[in-house]
Amino acid sequence: MSRTWWQDAAIYELYVRSFADGDGDGTGDLAGVRARLPYLADLGIDAIWFSPWYPSPMSDAGYDVADYRSIDPAFGTLADADALIAEGHALGIKTIIDIVPNHCSDQHRWFQAALAAAPGSAERARFWFRPGRGPGGDLPPNDWQSIFGGPAWTRTKAPDGTPGEWYLHLFAPEQPDFNWANPDVRAEFEDVLRFWFDRGADGIRIDSAALLTKDPGLPEPGAGPSPYTDRDDVHDIYRAWRTIADDYEDRVLIGEIWLADAARLARYLRRDELHAVFNFPYLCCPWDAAGLRAVIDSTLQFHAAAGAPPTWVLSNHDVDRHVSRYGRADTSFGLDRRDHSQPVDLDLGTRRARAAALLTMALPGSVYVYQGEELGLWEVEDIPDERRQDPIWHRTRGADPGRDGSRVPLPWSGQEPPFGFSPPDAAAQPWLPQPKEWRELTVAAETGDPHSMLELYRRALRIRRAEFVPAPPLTWLPAPGGVLAFARGGVACVANLSAVPAGLPPHAAALLASGPLAGGLLPPDTSAWLRLH
Ligand code: NOJ
Repeated sequence: MSRTWWQDAAIYELYVRSFADGDGDGTGDLAGVRARLPYLADLGIDAIWFSPWYPSPMSDAGYDVADYRSIDPAFGTLADADALIAEGHALGIKTIIDIVPNHCSDQHRWFQAALAAAPGSAERARFWFRPGRGPGGDLPPNDWQSIFGGPAWTRTKAPDGTPGEWYLHLFAPEQPDFNWANPDVRAEFEDVLRFWFDRGADGIRIDSAALLTKDPGLPEPGAGPSPYTDRDDVHDIYRAWRTIADDYEDRVLIGEIWLADAARLARYLRRDELHAVFNFPYLCCPWDAAGLRAVIDSTLQFHAAAGAPPTWVLSNHDVDRHVSRYGRADTSFGLDRRDHSQPVDLDLGTRRARAAALLTMALPGSVYVYQGEELGLWEVEDIPDERRQDPIWHRTRGADPGRDGSRVPLPWSGQEPPFGFSPPDAAAQPWLPQPKEWRELTVAAETGDPHSMLELYRRALRIRRAEFVPAPPLTWLPAPGGVLAFARGGVACVANLSAVPAGLPPHAAALLASGPLAGGLLPPDTSAWLRLH
């Protein structure tokens, strides 16, 4: 297989609501992105993955899509999206869009039609409508729980208030699950893929990709395979999608798949299915040399067997930002145990985040940068309750702090909020409040500062492109306990995760280090890239 762009691309996750606000309403938009494309080109990324930009009531920040072929008016128009894709291409930046096939918004015309139609109708067959259990059907059809907390079923009501059937939603009630056994659903999404490929999208990030198909008997989860996660029949969908992608040139399908079992994950990478999957085991792994080495080895091994490029991810819009994770006593991450009660040492977390950036960008495959990580932003844990928007926070009544803290609008310039996120005369505040300390983490403040996270990312992405692309294989080098050292071609990466300074392998020159070297030694929580003799 010849190498294509996505096999070793640096991909920037752009969370549209929080990137840049062009029109002053406090919400990011496509005009804001277009104005900042030169910033992204200069950063050195190859592609942008846009979080969902479709019309949406924003019950789940756009992952509740009301129309898959249009742009939310708060973000702009389809013409803006076309212009953005073209302007990106002119700067050498590809576009990856986010498709949400497991569920839509309850405002989607199909779901509205289903609600208006009778039980047993063709309209309802596109979703999972069922009568309730118990006298009067007052109990949900089964006890499945929503991933956002609470039951996975909501009861419908006729206009006169009479209770009716229940419908399934693995996420919020505003996100009804499609029934992928229904041919209309399959045809609709195949058409949506073509719609965006025809407009120039270079790739698709597939939301909740392992959840689409359900056991039609809707049994309770038990010892056997899950009735709604990673079922064998989900692969038929991706085989069909792959034939569509293959009708175009160099398009990529990337699955959002949270599976701990590498063998099950690898099945999505079979040659006639997806091109890539996100590496969540790497993201979730604690800041620990042996643990990271095990994940790196397993990743390389199962991707090599599948003939697919590994991916490396430290943060995204669903997880605590890694500056904060790495500054806690427990540096691991789990979706079901987000914990903001642990104290955070931001200096330590930032030092480790710098070291992690060099470790991650030296690995073979493609790398993801979540907007703001290049500035060293941390998880904002003190958002006032009344400003929080994440359905996870609301549905768990605050027991889970949710994801708002990783979605705070970016600081661009200036001394106080909105830090250039919105134009100077903006009518509204940013949709989530920014910490005043971010005055030190604006793009303007960090630009030209050789010690800033931004300049580290800029230099690292450049060197990565020159030295690590196309991918020379990784060879582990001998190293003391707590130190990860490997060579890629003529360059070594050494990351010291131990508590004591480490010696460096013989080298001709240090290309880049995440912190100062002390007397030729690599201090704890520091990484370096070395040109070998
Ligand atoms: C995964 C997305 O990344 C997340 O933000 C969203 O809430 C769920 N899927 C549901 O669409």
